[in-house]
Amino acid sequence: MKNKLLLGSSNKGKLNEIKFYLKYFSIYLDFDLITTKELNNFGEPIEDALTFQENAEIKSQYYFNLTGHATISDDSGFIIDDMGNYPGVKTARVAKKLGSEQNVMNDIFSKFGNISHLNATFFCAVSLVTDNKKYNCLGKVKGKMISQGIGNNGFGYDPYFIPEQSEKTFAEMQSNEKLKASHRFQAFKILSSQI
Ligand code: IMP
Repeated sequence: MKNKLLLGSSNKGKLNEIKFYLKYFSIYLDFDLITTKELNNFGEPIEDALTFQENAEIKSQYYFNLTGHATISDDSGFIIDDMGNYPGVKTARVAKKLGSEQNVMNDIFSKFGNISHLNATFFCAVSLVTDNKKYNCLGKVKGKMISQGIGNNGFGYDPYFIPEQSEKTFAEMQSNEKLKASHRFQAFKILSSQI
């Protein structure tokens, strides 16, 4: 029987991308992939740290401790360059609180008057916890957030983010193009060089 690699996320968009990167970078190819959906009554970790890296490790360590399976987790989000670290590790929480990603954009842009875009950076921390080693890799992509979403592909804030050197939002790109341009690609590239 093959060993299992647990993906410590229930976010479908993220899971699809993580599965792509594991294949693309030949990481843990010999392992059966399972997700947190296949765990019964294991609850969820409290992601209360102040950095993406710490929160990613909280998730991986939590599921590793419960299952004993090597676990890979991602904590991600964006910051508006002129807003300190906001929303940062709260990226998912503010969307939940305000009801949608569009509402988050409306809230952020309302603080800056009449402008159409804001410089921003997307981050992805990938944590891998195994029985004998831990890895923690941070990828980032600079670009800009726009106030009104464009495009239908991807997930989360993809319609609002235009990475540097592109004219298109992540959500306007074909999935292969986004997969190669993203913060998550950078994080997995670093991870693949360390394993
Ligand atoms: P987490 O699950 O706590 O890491 O929250 C991540 C947040 O950032 C969620 O609101 C996601 O929608 C958003 N996010 C992370 N990566 C991406 C991405 O590649 N595209 C769009 N939104 C993303």
